[in-house]
Amino acid sequence: MIETNYLIIGSGAAGLTLAVKLAAEFPKRKITVVTKANESESNTKYAQGGVAAVFDLKEDSFQKHIEDTLIAGDGLCNRAVVEMVIKEGPKRLRELMTWGANFDTDSDGELTLGREGGHSQFRVIHHKDTTGNEIERALLARTNQLANITLLPHHFAIDLITEHHFSEDKTENLSCYGAYVLDQISGNIFTIKADCTTLASGGMGQVYGHTTNPVVATGDGIAMAYRAKVQIQNMEFIQFHPTALYDGNNGASFLISEAVRGFGAFLRNKNGERFMLKYDERGELASRDIVSRAIDSEIKMSGADCVYLDCTHLDIEDFKQDFPNIYETCLQQSINVAKDWIPVVPAAHYLCGGVVVDLDGKTSLKNLFACGECSCTGLHGANRLASNSLLEALVYADRIFQYLRKHKPSRTTKAIPEWNDEGTVLLIGSEILPQKTGQLQWLMRRYAGVVRNNSDLKEASLQLEKLYFQMEALYQKHKLNTALSELRNMVNVAHLIIQQSLNRTENRGGFFNEDYKK
Ligand code: FAD
Ligand code: SIN
Repeated sequence: MIETNYLIIGSGAAGLTLAVKLAAEFPKRKITVVTKANESESNTKYAQGGVAAVFDLKEDSFQKHIEDTLIAGDGLCNRAVVEMVIKEGPKRLRELMTWGANFDTDSDGELTLGREGGHSQFRVIHHKDTTGNEIERALLARTNQLANITLLPHHFAIDLITEHHFSEDKTENLSCYGAYVLDQISGNIFTIKADCTTLASGGMGQVYGHTTNPVVATGDGIAMAYRAKVQIQNMEFIQFHPTALYDGNNGASFLISEAVRGFGAFLRNKNGERFMLKYDERGELASRDIVSRAIDSEIKMSGADCVYLDCTHLDIEDFKQDFPNIYETCLQQSINVAKDWIPVVPAAHYLCGGVVVDLDGKTSLKNLFACGECSCTGLHGANRLASNSLLEALVYADRIFQYLRKHKPSRTTKAIPEWNDEGTVLLIGSEILPQKTGQLQWLMRRYAGVVRNNSDLKEASLQLEKLYFQMEALYQKHKLNTALSELRNMVNVAHLIIQQSLNRTENRGGFFNEDYKK
């Protein structure tokens, strides 16, 4: 067993920001960060477009950014949260810059600002097209300077520890006492007893298989919270990014940033028609849900596998300057952006919902906090405005820090039982888990994708129930490993998406059910 003051699950922008701030404020307290792959692997690392914040006070204003966020969120944002996050944003970014993060500037040293769908102004600060990688680099460098942070890569949090594990009958006013964690190298499961635990475990794109998210994004934190009876909301609002590179398979997919459309690229169907203006007067810069549905509709009407992003009319030298990673990655796939159209399809990208938190990042479970993509703060409502998520991760990590600065969590005297896997055996035969995971991902793509309907959702629910019982049987009999834990988590998350989709009886933001009015 490890004992720590602060346990943080996840080493993306949200988790590391919190760790760094706590460690600097409380040099005598212990901060433990567990992360399930290598220390940098996260959605953060792959973020391209940038971070939205108001730096240009001549053309832009907090009010405009607030309005754009509220419009995207389609009536479900919490205005107080939107105002707080947007006003705090520039401070948090300046802080990140003092920790060493570099963002692109012009010859006068002013930040260069990009634009993405749904933004009325140029306000996205970036580091070429690898902004997330730069943020992750700077945060890890800062983390490594702070001796009281223990960062444990290849450590997978399995379950939150609550009174349920003490066999107490208590069903109300439960608390979190840390987590059970799998050392992925040794295969051992041990207890981390923590005065306070924060979920910063990111998104769940892998539930769909076809996603811009890396393989770590399996919704673990949300599933753990769900099993601990924590409030979870807005799971129906999955944001599909319109332009993931189509490479003929259904696996994780490289993103072609929305900033490329902000730079002037056109979307064309297989007949070469620039179709977006048929769907929305903002054309290629309509909000993501509209662009994704338009592409879905063009693909279904034409029977083609994809649509195309045409950059051939753009200045290729400027393009290479702003999007070197996209240019090179396309070239590796034999796509010369100067001459060839880029084949693209929508892919699962971002979860607007998650573990419900208040303005301090507190969840409904005592001593459990959440920040970043796994949380549901009220900022995004029914649809996230592009580049508002890194902003949210930075601001909410700070909110939790500010709360913990004033409220020292106390150590429990309760005896925490060790993980009990008596009577379980090693899972032999490696093909069963990828097979079940593939089935789950297929059913989510087929029945709970960009455009849904009630009959598909009910079918998804039936098929998922069968998968749930098969997975439970595997879980009861076998020693836990990463793949089995992830499957268990993804089945839980899929259940939440399907049930909350069925519960929503209207079309709103990014949620579209063809049984309801457009
Ligand atoms: P993450 O960065 O995903 O970090 C989660 C961490 O938790 C990871 O370290 C993971 O390994 C760990 N973890 C997960 N489960 C466990 C477990 N069971 N045990 C231990 N560790 C665990 N947003 C923007 O604002 N601007 C952009 O330009 C932008 N571009 C994007 C491009 C791509 C391709 C993608 C995928 C996303 C993009 N986003 C963008 C979204 C944004 O990157 C994420 O929402 C944000 O980085 C989430 O940060 P986070 O810290 O909450 O989670
Ligand atoms: C992108 O660069 O298109 C992604 C931006 C985001 O998801 O916020």
